[in-house]
Amino acid sequence: MQKKTVKQELEIYDFSELSGEQQNLLLVAKSMLEKAYAPYSNFLVGAAALLEDGQVMVGCNQENASYPLCICAERVALYNAGANATGTKIKSLAVIAKNPKNALLQPVSPCGACRQVILEFEEKQEGKIEILLQGETDEVYRIETAADLLPLNFSGSVLL
Ligand code: THU
Repeated sequence: MQKKTVKQELEIYDFSELSGEQQNLLLVAKSMLEKAYAPYSNFLVGAAALLEDGQVMVGCNQENASYPLCICAERVALYNAGANATGTKIKSLAVIAKNPKNALLQPVSPCGACRQVILEFEEKQEGKIEILLQGETDEVYRIETAADLLPLNFSGSVLL
């Protein structure tokens, strides 16, 4: 028997310690909270992807009465980038969440499905995507690369 260790690493910052670019991206993501369509969960999520040319592609969660059709803010933002800025690399993805019933004292991390999608964007562009996560406080988690969010992932490379 052999053991293999997979790492999951994140950095914790106060909002004030971030660069102006990071702060702005989180603020754009925050502005998306009010556009979230979440009548069923009442859980609001906003996302913003900063592209290498400076464009920002936004998203927010989109729910449906047929619950499995709900889509997360992260995927809305990334698919928006895939459709509207095809081929332009993504530098950073900011995600912020708000729970009006119970304030989020820590950042919320992307669900498993979104991690898989963020990872494929990263693989496709052959460049890291920084992830910034925030709840309802000034605490921000920074993950340097989507690969760190999903250790031991399923990669499309095995399909080749
Ligand atoms: N949600 C997101 O948008 N992103 C996440 O990372 C986790 C969950 C949404 C999906 C659904 O609309 C609501 O939050 C509750 O799960």
